[in-house]
Amino acid sequence: MTKPLEGKIAVVTGAGNGIGRASALRFSADGATLALLDLDKSAVEGVAAEVKAAGGKALPLALDCSNADQIVAAFAAIRKELGKPDILLNNVGQSARERMSDFVNSDMAVLDFILDVNLKSCILCSRQVVNDMKERGSGKIINLTSESAVNGSLKTWDYSAAKAGVIGFTRAVARELAPYGINVNAVGPGMTRTRAMDQLPQDLVQKIADAIPARRAGKPEDIANAIAFFASDQSDYVTGQTLLVNGGNWML
Ligand SMILES: NC(=O)c1ccc[n+]([C@@H]2O[C@H](COP(=O)([O-])OP(=O)(O)OC[C@H]3O[C@@H](n4cnc5c(N)ncnc54)[C@H](O)[C@@H]3O)[C@@H](O)[C@H]2O)c1
Repeated sequence: MTKPLEGKIAVVTGAGNGIGRASALRFSADGATLALLDLDKSAVEGVAAEVKAAGGKALPLALDCSNADQIVAAFAAIRKELGKPDILLNNVGQSARERMSDFVNSDMAVLDFILDVNLKSCILCSRQVVNDMKERGSGKIINLTSESAVNGSLKTWDYSAAKAGVIGFTRAVARELAPYGINVNAVGPGMTRTRAMDQLPQDLVQKIADAIPARRAGKPEDIANAIAFFASDQSDYVTGQTLLVNGGNWML
């Protein structure tokens, strides 16, 4: 049986850990050839080795996905080594973690970092694939937003604003690109078991998980399942949408 992403080239940003890693492994299992981008060289090379060990093909690239020059160079390398991308997963992003604060006490340098890593990275990477996708008449762009964009979580006002920006960007660009057969959608995880959560006190994690209707935190693979749908031709008539994957914690 043909795999759903057989013959496709997929780019995953922030592929070295968490949701990016799980999505990369899923894309590979679904038949795609991968370009794996991450700031952390050894992490992304480790994921590429996992993909290769399972019989897949992956090109690992170490770069800062909020740096315009590095992004241009990375996508030139992808085109040269693999060809023109069919799928782009804009997964890079984070909250300010140890630097988070109330809005009134906030440091504008932290705001710049949050907007760059969550919103600008998504916009800059998307610009690198759109012309090729338009020429081909097909393409899938999937952007990671967050439940925080819609529930306005405390102390992460900057992250909420940046991730709400991702939703607005997704909708506007989806409208522009739909006539060219390009789908642009967003996936918004709720609390998901990645390394940021591993650093929190585990009794707090359990308390939060108990309050989720599904009574557990998400796994990276739960998010990758939704992403795999948006990357496949099963979602050809779905564009500009945001799917929250959060065990029912917040409903749109
Ligand atoms: N984990 C959650 O609970 C959760 C919830 C909602 C939304 N999200 C979103 O999902 C996405 C993935 O989150 P995660 O928890 O898997 O993250 P993670 O921190 O586990 O992994 C992120 C990866 O991105 C890489 N990275 C960070 N900045 C980078 C940059 N500037 N350039 C290139 N690579 C960079 C890191 O090295 C890391 O490998 C993010 O956009 C995040 O905001 C996560």
